Amino acid sequence: MVPWAPPGYRAALCSLNGRDGSRANPLSAILRSATSADAPRVATLLIETRRAFMPYAPSAHPEPELREWVASVLVPSGGVTVAEVLGRVVGVVATAHSQQGSWVRQMAVDPALVNQGIGTLLLAHAVRTLALPIRLYTFQANAGARRFYERHGFVPVEFTDGQANEERCPDVLYELRAIPAP
Ligand SMILES: CC(C)(COP(=O)(O)OP(=O)(O)OC[C@H]1O[C@@H](n2cnc3c(N)ncnc32)[C@H](O)[C@@H]1OP(=O)(O)O)[C@@H](O)C(=O)NCCC(=O)NCCS
Repeated sequence: MVPWAPPGYRAALCSLNGRDGSRANPLSAILRSATSADAPRVATLLIETRRAFMPYAPSAHPEPELREWVASVLVPSGGVTVAEVLGRVVGVVATAHSQQGSWVRQMAVDPALVNQGIGTLLLAHAVRTLALPIRLYTFQANAGARRFYERHGFVPVEFTDGQANEERCPDVLYELRAIPAP
């Protein structure tokens, strides 16, 4: 159930899902740069995916603090792209460049819409726009995300005990060194 679905949204979901229940072809999703108006929804996606998929690593920050960080730091940083279905933001990827290289800092897809290709669209966009190598951290326990990144060519390069992250949760550094052959 998608309680907030605006008119037409369910039809778009049907086109995402495919009649036979097969993996979606997410042609109905469009990607665009996030604006300040997207900050509340981006924060909600980060909060809801954390709650749904990473209960073992609750955020070290209270929700209002996280919302403030998204609005005042993450979105203004400029590397935030959202996926939209019929005007509704359903996914986000946040990227960054630093002297150490390119980073995927955040990825989240609406928990009601995971496993339908939206994350693949967002990650492909990040890979197209970033210089290699691209790095990211994810929690070791996040089996779904690890499978997702590995399927897209990322390889684990370092496993940590988590003492350096805010959640103190063991994580893994992934790296994409070359674009995988199609
Ligand atoms: C990881 C994530 C961004 C992938 O986006 P997505 O739209 O679900 O990805 P796609 O549909 O393009 O690809 C599906 C693949 O993602 C993986 N996946 C990751 N988390 C998943 C989940 N909770 N449910 C289903 N599949 C998931 C699987 O590898 C899946 O394919 P498989 O089951 O056939 O192996 C998304 O699932 C998500 O937001 N997860 C929770 C937040 C998170 O873990 N973010 C990354 C932290 S670094």
